[in-house]
Amino acid sequence: MVQSRSKRFEKLRERDINKEVYVSELPELGLIVMDSPTDPKPSLEMRDGRIVEMDGRPEAEFDAIDRFIAAHAINLERAEMAMEMGSLTIARMLTDINVSQREVMAVFSGLTPAMIAEVMSHLNVVEMMMAMQKMRQRKRPYDQAHVTNWKENPCLLAADAAEAGLRGFAEEETTVRVARMAPFSALALLVGSQVGRPGVMTQISCEEALNLRLAMKGLATYAETLSVYGTIPSFLDGDDTPWSKGILASAYASRGVKSRFTSGSGSEALMGYGLGWSMLYLEIRCILMVKGAGSQGVQNGSISCIALPESLPNGVRGVMAENLVAASLGLEVAAGNDAMSSHSSMRKTAKLMLQMLPGTDFVTSGHSVMPRKDNLFGGGNFDAEDMDDWLVIQRDMQVDGGLKPVREDDVLSVRERGARAIQAVFAEMGFPAISDEEVAAATTAFCSDDMPDRDSVTDLAAADAFLDGDQTALDVVAALTRAGFDDVAESVLEMQRQRVLGDYLHTSAVFDEDFTVASAVNTPNDYEGPGTGYRVEGKVWDDIRALPQALDPHALIKDEALDPNVILEPIGPAGEGSETEVVVSLGPAFASVMNQTLADLSHADVLHAILEGIKSEGVSARVVKVWHGADVADIGLSGAQLSGSGIGIGLQSKGTALIHKKGLAPLNNLELLSMAPNLTLESYRALGRNAACYATGRAPSPVPMKIDNMARLRLIVHTTLLHHREVNQIDEGRGIEEMKVTFR
Ligand code: 5AD
Ligand code: CA
Repeated sequence: MVQSRSKRFEKLRERDINKEVYVSELPELGLIVMDSPTDPKPSLEMRDGRIVEMDGRPEAEFDAIDRFIAAHAINLERAEMAMEMGSLTIARMLTDINVSQREVMAVFSGLTPAMIAEVMSHLNVVEMMMAMQKMRQRKRPYDQAHVTNWKENPCLLAADAAEAGLRGFAEEETTVRVARMAPFSALALLVGSQVGRPGVMTQISCEEALNLRLAMKGLATYAETLSVYGTIPSFLDGDDTPWSKGILASAYASRGVKSRFTSGSGSEALMGYGLGWSMLYLEIRCILMVKGAGSQGVQNGSISCIALPESLPNGVRGVMAENLVAASLGLEVAAGNDAMSSHSSMRKTAKLMLQMLPGTDFVTSGHSVMPRKDNLFGGGNFDAEDMDDWLVIQRDMQVDGGLKPVREDDVLSVRERGARAIQAVFAEMGFPAISDEEVAAATTAFCSDDMPDRDSVTDLAAADAFLDGDQTALDVVAALTRAGFDDVAESVLEMQRQRVLGDYLHTSAVFDEDFTVASAVNTPNDYEGPGTGYRVEGKVWDDIRALPQALDPHALIKDEALDPNVILEPIGPAGEGSETEVVVSLGPAFASVMNQTLADLSHADVLHAILEGIKSEGVSARVVKVWHGADVADIGLSGAQLSGSGIGIGLQSKGTALIHKKGLAPLNNLELLSMAPNLTLESYRALGRNAACYATGRAPSPVPMKIDNMARLRLIVHTTLLHHREVNQIDEGRGIEEMKVTFR
């Protein structure tokens, strides 16, 4: 037996990915993501237009969830036909571009929970992504923001909300550390978001009755905290039933407030009542309850429980399956990816791709616009510091993950205006003052540490009074108008008007420009294979590709003047030498249209160092210029062939250099300094010395090289542009010329 320990394993143990817990399946406790041995097998029996047996259970043994699903969630007209199709056929319909979304939805509407679970078992994650691309309800994907801060500072909240609107989020959600702060946080979110972009929807995640009251005051335009669970005892823990949740959903709808439910794998096991069933089977029961309750959508994807399925085999696949089931049942999907899912950024990104690449209605159900420490949702999976990564991935893949690149000055101005607007509302409505100092700090803040402290006792008392009093969003509109924020007032008022119109209660509705509703009804996802569906093109693609960091390639390299420190004069065609010499052959742009290397060394210095190196070994040198090509091997070999010793040094204008020898194959040189950006004058001097050694028949040790594997990433575009300059100087008919070199 091997006793020693591997140093590689030691390093691996320290990696982020190994800070997480992995366990094997334990079905008795519900610690199994898909296909639990005790999951029911699909079955359906109907009598007199009623379901009398479902998934192996006769009606008499139905629990309340079965009863709710059988009565409200399954389309009885389609059920028998759909169940007879067989799970594999249905799975194939999901990935078949010749079967439309509508046809698949029609079949799904008649399936029992166990049948849906069986369909998912046939799909690998790529097939699930293909299916999601078709089954997502709204044509264009968007993203949802989380906006909170540790100090619960309303001014910072409004500034962040404004920035989120500018960045393209269609929904913004906040939550509270201290529940009594909810009315002010909801208000700041509403006002700030409308400064960012008119039509952004907002909501506050708090206790359900309070949430409803805030919505009725007009301070929230959607709600998504209606939780459902897949086993009865987990439901009872929350004093709820499928029916009570249905009533709550109706209450929101009756006040014109968009709502979606929340559910997701793992909650039942976590609450102690997995009851031996797989997480996916239980989640499918939840999704069917959501549908039965008449909601337009769900936020799922395990949500707060994500680490639990991820501790198990195929956890991420199972979570993707739950997103797909919801979409296939015609529900809007806010896909999760909001709660912290890993220490490892590689693992987080890999998981995100399952939703971001096919697109879901909301790619995350909360992408923090603040740094992690200000995220009161228990830390975000993606936060402010990840914004640029997100934008680059969108650009890399020509994919719309819901965000737009923004410019720093635009962000600053929208943040300041958001902060000013909430300052004005607080002043007009008689709430505790927001100071100019707070506005300034909120405009430029990294996080709430940069904000002055407020008197939270006074704030909370004022928030209580606001909640209990009769001021509503209409008073906010009046306050904004009095303070001269007419456009923001207009948007807040329009939000109230939209509640009366109710068009945004349709499935997957968001407001795009000018309060136009974009939903699954008026902009349905019509994906049917290549050339159809939502394509990232036109204005959206222009926005996504125009990263503010992206430079004009011309700006990357300077126009170079002639190097005053070296003069190269052609003195005739280069001939073959007979002495023990080293021929230094230069690229066509050397010390003419270019004057320095990628390492910013001047051509004068580089050539001087090489010649110095050669001479220090007592060997003579000749300098020639090659016109017929720009390839370093060709340049070097051309010189070597003229060299009396057979040894030559080839030097490209960007600094790449080698030692070549007459008679060798072009790509088989003696020594190559390929990493031009890492070379110093000492490297070139050593190269000269080594060439001289070869010329005199001695074997030198290779030139020491600094290794910087990232240099290529930093400089590959520069390299391309500079090399292009060299290539431009090629004159194929011109022979190699002997050069007279004068250093100043
Ligand atoms: N199932 C049901 N509800 C959930 N929530 C989060 N994750 C789940 C889940 N997997 C709800 C809970 C929680 C809020 C943030 O979202 O109500 O309090
Ligand atoms: Ca959310």
